[in-house]
Amino acid sequence: MAFSGFLYALLVCAQFAESQKQVSSGAGSTQTFMFPPSGVTATVPDPNFPDGTKVGFAGATPTGDEAAAMATAPSFAPNHNHFPLVQPIAADADNAHDFDVLQHLGNLSPWRSVPSKNYGLPGASPVVPSGCEVVQVHLVHRHGARYPADGGPATFAGRVHEIANSPSGFNATGRLKFLRNWTYKLGAELLTPFGRSQLYDLGVGFRIRYGELLKDFKDLPVFRTTSQARMLDSALNFAAGFFGLQDYAKSYHQLIEVESQGFNSTLAPYFTCPNANNEIAQIGYTRNPVKWQNAYLSRAQRRLANQLPGFNLTIADCFNMQQLCAYETVALGYSQFCGLFDEEEWEGYAYASALQIWYGAGPGNPATAAMGIGYVQELVSRLTKTRITEFNTSVNKSIVTNEILFPLDQPIYVDATHDTVMSTIYVAMNFTSFIRSGPLPADYIPDNVSYKTNEVNPFAVNLVGQVLSCPASGTPTHIRWILNDGVLPLTGISGCKHNKNGMCEIDTFINGMKQRIAEVDYQFGCFGNYTFPEPDGIVDGQLPMNLRH
Ligand SMILES: *[C@@H]1O[C@H](CO)[C@@H](O)[C@H](O)[C@H]1NC(C)=O
Ligand SMILES: *[C@@H]1O[C@H](CO)[C@@H](O)[C@H](O)[C@H]1NC(C)=O
Ligand SMILES: *[C@@H]1O[C@H](CO)[C@@H](O)[C@H](O)[C@H]1NC(C)=O
Ligand SMILES: *[C@@H]1O[C@H](CO)[C@@H](O)[C@H](O)[C@H]1NC(C)=O
Ligand SMILES: *[C@@H]1O[C@H](CO)[C@@H](O)[C@H](O)[C@H]1NC(C)=O
Ligand SMILES: *[C@@H]1O[C@H](CO)[C@@H](O)[C@H](O)[C@H]1NC(C)=O
Ligand SMILES: *[C@@H]1O[C@H](CO)[C@@H](O)[C@H](O)[C@H]1NC(C)=O
Ligand SMILES: *[C@@H]1O[C@H](CO)[C@@H](O)[C@H](O)[C@H]1NC(C)=O
Ligand SMILES: *[C@@H]1O[C@H](CO)[C@@H](O)[C@H](O)[C@H]1NC(C)=O
Repeated sequence: MAFSGFLYALLVCAQFAESQKQVSSGAGSTQTFMFPPSGVTATVPDPNFPDGTKVGFAGATPTGDEAAAMATAPSFAPNHNHFPLVQPIAADADNAHDFDVLQHLGNLSPWRSVPSKNYGLPGASPVVPSGCEVVQVHLVHRHGARYPADGGPATFAGRVHEIANSPSGFNATGRLKFLRNWTYKLGAELLTPFGRSQLYDLGVGFRIRYGELLKDFKDLPVFRTTSQARMLDSALNFAAGFFGLQDYAKSYHQLIEVESQGFNSTLAPYFTCPNANNEIAQIGYTRNPVKWQNAYLSRAQRRLANQLPGFNLTIADCFNMQQLCAYETVALGYSQFCGLFDEEEWEGYAYASALQIWYGAGPGNPATAAMGIGYVQELVSRLTKTRITEFNTSVNKSIVTNEILFPLDQPIYVDATHDTVMSTIYVAMNFTSFIRSGPLPADYIPDNVSYKTNEVNPFAVNLVGQVLSCPASGTPTHIRWILNDGVLPLTGISGCKHNKNGMCEIDTFINGMKQRIAEVDYQFGCFGNYTFPEPDGIVDGQLPMNLRH
């Protein structure tokens, strides 16, 4: 009797502990939703809902002339837009204006206009210099904001869910109280509604800035993207913004390059480059960033762990929570994770992103010059109107030798790609302003660091090559490159002299790119069996000559 009484007491105790759990059993669970409801998609055309052409009565429809604001306006309209995202506030800031968390999300930041002085050209404007005219533009851009492409945020949610449902559970107090009922609402990789608007706005902006170049087309434009859902969505939203929803399908051709193992594409070059998929690429995720995460997040880990008894919060959890801030903000418009971290910790996160890209897909990785060089070959082909004849890089022969798929006479070129491809293209083109502050150390943030991923590859980052005629004669004489509205110095490119407007003579630039194609060893960079040097002093995306064997 005494014994069973003891058991009973134990049972009551256990039930009492269970009822004391502050955390809901649903915490950390993954929530998904699909619209439209299954089985009720629209049939097009639907006789009940005739389209505009059937209904008629469109009112007046005279067209106006094309805009060319980048050439005709005295200044340009910078992009500071983050509507409808609620501006996050850092833990130690009084308001969102004191410190801009959105610009400390590294490559998960929404793109903003970057002042040219950040790249080392104070005073340069993206507005076409007076006396010049723009005769052609080359746009390469990243897709817009998306759901997570790696497992960190979902891993954190899984841990919350598992520990919430373990016998002891965990408690959530202070700023972390929200975790008691927090659920995981993110999908994977797809463009978010905000990401859609970024590309639509980029398309509208491009039409207003450069629309006049449409007058020089003799055929429909061909724009390129890749097959991934977010890539196609981005391209279509750009086109909808550029041509208008009523007209876009009839106004251009969308080339969709297959992004998968075994397919050549300069917009997804990692699939033809083994060293982009082995431990050489993984350096960006493993070695330096982990060391840095331990350095900048240990204070946050202690502080937040105190508010989560029973959870055993790790540094990796804290990093995943910072990622959740970024992803929830761009997907759901708001995230309670953002306010958990102070300004210094957001500076740390931004730097972690820079380290990851620098060593994984940027100047510090020995396979990146090779990966980016295929796009440079295509650029030279377009600038010289000469077809590529040698195929020993990621260039896809059946695309670039086909004049329908790869025309050489377009006044406007638009290519959509990924952040980790943009970063290899900068390396392949020798944009040396990003390497000014040298290889990135893993234990501190250098003063005035020149590689910031909110500038080099945020969501919807856009690189524009302006081909100019100076003085205006219709014949190309110069080129310059503009990244997120900031003008890049081209002085790292052999032959290009300093120019306050970032211009280089077109022939000199083309020769520099040809020289770059010759000096980048694709075969070794992508297929070479080498060990990654330590410390890594690489700044140009190739192993130094003396280490190649
Ligand atoms: C949050 O979780 C607690 C504990 O499980 C539960 O009592 C409460 O109803 C939940 N609140 C909401 C708003 O779902
Ligand atoms: C930081 O770097 C930029 C770009 O090179 C330069 O214009 C600026 O003067 C530098 N600032 C400081 C404080 O060194
Ligand atoms: C070239 O690209 C097309 C379209 O993506 C693809 O079908 C074809 O297989 C590619 N060729 C090679 C050699 O990868
Ligand atoms: C949570 O708090 C309750 C008291 O509110 C306590 O009984 C319980 O042990 C705590 N659980 C953990 C895992 O710290
Ligand atoms: C907490 O996590 C750390 C790091 O993963 C691990 O080494 C440690 O054993 C864990 N402690 C408990 C009590 O689970
Ligand atoms: C595809 O890329 C490889 C390099 O990875 C190259 O050797 C091959 O010639 C290319 N093939 C075509 C058809 O483009
Ligand atoms: C590219 O930059 C490197 C230095 O990083 C330089 O050695 C090389 O000559 C440059 N190549 C061209 C073609 O500009
Ligand atoms: C491609 O091969 C040719 C020789 O066939 C060589 O001259 C050229 O440098 C190679 N290009 C690359 C990028 O490896
Ligand atoms: C690369 O080289 C190492 C040592 O030289 C060797 O053990 C390894 O098998 C090689 N890997 C490949 C894929 O050839």
